[in-house]
Amino acid sequence: MDIIGIDLGTTNSVATVYTNEGLKHISFDGDFLLPSIVNVSNDGVIVGIKAKNMAMIAQENTAISIKRLMGSDQKVTLNGKEFTPQEVSSLIIKKIKNTAEQEMGEKYNRCVVTVPAYFNENQRAATTQAVELAGLKVLRVINEPTAAAISYGANKDEDMLYGVYDLGGGTFDISIIENSKGLIEVVATSGDNYLGGDDFDKKLSQLIWQKSGFDIPLTQKLQIKLNQIAEKAKIDLSTQEEVIIDEKFFAKKDKEPLHLEVEIGREEFEELIREDIDRTVELLLSTLEDANYDIDDLEAIILTGGSSRIPFVTHTILEKTGKLPILIEDPDKSVSIGAILQGAIIEGIDTDSILVDITPYSLGISTLNESMGFELILSKIILKNTPVPVSKVSRYYAMRDYQEGFEIDIYQGENEKDLSENINIGNMLLEIKNPIKEGAIDVTFTLNQDGMLSVVGKEIHTDEIIKGEFRTKISKSSQHSNVNEMDILNEHDRAIMGKIDKLLESDILEEDKADLKALKAKYINAHSEEKATIEEEIIDTIFFLEDSH
Ligand SMILES: Nc1ncnc2c1ncn2[C@@H]1O[C@H](COP(=O)(O)OP(=O)(O)OP(=O)(O)O)[C@@H](O)[C@H]1O
Ligand SMILES: [Mg+2]
Repeated sequence: MDIIGIDLGTTNSVATVYTNEGLKHISFDGDFLLPSIVNVSNDGVIVGIKAKNMAMIAQENTAISIKRLMGSDQKVTLNGKEFTPQEVSSLIIKKIKNTAEQEMGEKYNRCVVTVPAYFNENQRAATTQAVELAGLKVLRVINEPTAAAISYGANKDEDMLYGVYDLGGGTFDISIIENSKGLIEVVATSGDNYLGGDDFDKKLSQLIWQKSGFDIPLTQKLQIKLNQIAEKAKIDLSTQEEVIIDEKFFAKKDKEPLHLEVEIGREEFEELIREDIDRTVELLLSTLEDANYDIDDLEAIILTGGSSRIPFVTHTILEKTGKLPILIEDPDKSVSIGAILQGAIIEGIDTDSILVDITPYSLGISTLNESMGFELILSKIILKNTPVPVSKVSRYYAMRDYQEGFEIDIYQGENEKDLSENINIGNMLLEIKNPIKEGAIDVTFTLNQDGMLSVVGKEIHTDEIIKGEFRTKISKSSQHSNVNEMDILNEHDRAIMGKIDKLLESDILEEDKADLKALKAKYINAHSEEKATIEEEIIDTIFFLEDSH
């Protein structure tokens, strides 16, 4: 099977393939988690843990949490060149494809890729584009909590109703799932595209900075280091009541090293994230309500995503719902496993289960409402929580006689009265071939299994189908991107050596130069498995020296 299951995460990506011996997770520099971080230099592109290291000393060339920008028209500049979010993501996918092919000795041409359930049309389109730019075909796009449910449900025979609570690095998703006789049915879903571990890191880093008492400017560079320190402290606080942050050479002031020494108690951290976690539980309850269920109907609440390891998540859910949630086995791998299992189902290898997914939001077009003083309102065509694929038709009447076309604005969201509360996902011109006095058209919205929309119109009086180009916010132009030609490097020795050499030529202290030279020699002579540790040491040293420079 030439399919890869890809969980393209905000912080980490995971890839799984199907082999005769079972499922296999692709390994990146010794770990199945690939940090979703991309560094671009003149030598080429580095993705993963090495790019994460580079972020400390070359932040201007490094993209972190790019998934948060997917579907927007924001660009990032790396090494002096502009990239769209989908181009950066495509480099991550290319790394996955290359590594899988090297490790498995096979060609991979297709993939099942996952997206947060609450990802909108533009974000889905951007993800599909990223996959294609990386040279893979999209076999299916599935929702992350649904994928987690597939992996959870794969070895369960009993019928049950449960919630999947997925709190990751950048996004929160909640889905209510019904398993019955091999049918995995999503009955309701909701979430927040901008809530996750990244936000907790940011809040914690602010607290650490406040407690440090340093009176130096917090540069972007220090912020990156501080974020990494905060993330580590946060993870430690999941198993410890308190952490002591102790960074001997955090920064420099007047050539003197500044020692970062801060203590954080678990409760302090919980206070920082209380509001966010409360909101996730409120979303869980409102999603249940949408599906006309009560919390007592749920047989289980399954937790997945790295941030659900925070004990406060479990406490809050228990406190507010009276239900003790359970952490899914392998919370980091479940989404990727679900993706490849879905690939196997589509290929007919695993024919036991069938997936019914739904749309997490309503889709419609803006119309003028006479009774509301000709205000623009949202006229919904496909309703939230409708199973996909689905096609729905709505009829619209012309405003003027002999109107030659209908310019339709397509929206996604729930607020019918206040259009601005919804997201505009694109527009389209439906041209009327034979204008008549009181014209009307039927507009058909079709949502496929990937959650992607297509729209066609029909002239009522002639039955003529009108196709228009559905212009989403995602431009097609980057399809001809030059990322295809960029090399994904496995090693980045040269990038690091370049940094060292530059420092050696600068006017740092002789003793620092001697230290650097020694480190350089140690690195060059090291076995590959030792390199990672030395690399960290080098990065720390460069970071510190550059800072004082
Ligand atoms: N033991 C832990 N305690 C607290 N947080 C953790 C722990 N382990 C991982 N995390 C956090 O989980 C997040 C990563 O989770 P995950 O890998 O599920 O996210 P992702 O898939 O990259 O993001 P998303 O699904 O939102 O796109 C990071 O913010 C990380 O710091
Ligand atoms: Mg995830």
